[in-house]
Amino acid sequence: MSEAGRQTVIEAVGLAKIYWDGSNSLKILSDISLSVYKGEGIAVIGPSGCGKSTLLNLLSGLDRPTEGAVRLLGKELGRLGEAEKARLRANGVGFVFQAYHLLPEFTALENVMVPLLVAGRSEPEAAQKAALALAEVGLTERAGHYPSELSGGEQQRAAIARAVVNDPEIVFCDEPTGNLDPGTASGISELIERLYRQKGRTVVIVTHDERLAARATRVWELVGKSWRPSGTARPKEDR
Ligand SMILES: Nc1ncnc2c1ncn2[C@@H]1O[C@H](COP(=O)(O)OP(=O)(O)OP(=O)(O)O)[C@@H](O)[C@H]1O
Ligand SMILES: [Mg+2]
Repeated sequence: MSEAGRQTVIEAVGLAKIYWDGSNSLKILSDISLSVYKGEGIAVIGPSGCGKSTLLNLLSGLDRPTEGAVRLLGKELGRLGEAEKARLRANGVGFVFQAYHLLPEFTALENVMVPLLVAGRSEPEAAQKAALALAEVGLTERAGHYPSELSGGEQQRAAIARAVVNDPEIVFCDEPTGNLDPGTASGISELIERLYRQKGRTVVIVTHDERLAARATRVWELVGKSWRPSGTARPKEDR
């Protein structure tokens, strides 16, 4: 699938997410259609609670939409079983969660090794690659620390190293610089920008960080329940 020769890596049609609270329904997202092309770095912005994390979860197959469909790396997610979705994610997708989700019983290095081991790499190779990824986010000294021994910003950086260590085609980042000081945030922003500007990877970044959004190739603003402008998720700005 392509438009003007560009390869579509994520396509969503008519997405809606409704949560049920007893007898009340809470419509979070509605009628969201969008296409993401290979090599784009898209910033998703919008007020707290508008559904940004929900949208990332739907696009990455971690959650199912109430309505609509997502095609990720050429696969219709609704047609895949959980194991197939997990395999697709393991091979093609990195995810930086808003709440980091590091495994508490593993050190920083072991956390970063996990995606490589899941993808079938040997332990020595995984350890070597994980150490390089930790060095890229400035965490070499903390490699042997457990998440409980890391600061919030260090956990966030370890989570970023884990998301990119496997060199996935698509990286979803939920507030990747949310807990970092300006200097560290700027280093992480550069690392993320390199993914789509130099390495040809595709990144979707939820952020409140204006400097990070300013580096994006497109900015999407989520307002109320749908995109502004509505319809096919046209960008707020095209850069
Ligand atoms: N499992 C759930 N059940 C019911 N409501 C939920 C559930 N998960 C999220 N919500 C609601 O959906 C809305 C959107 O949540 P979401 O986490 O996507 O927001 P967000 O835009 O990422 O906000 P923030 O910027 O604060 O991270 C919120 O009002 C939240 O309370
Ligand atoms: Mg969120």
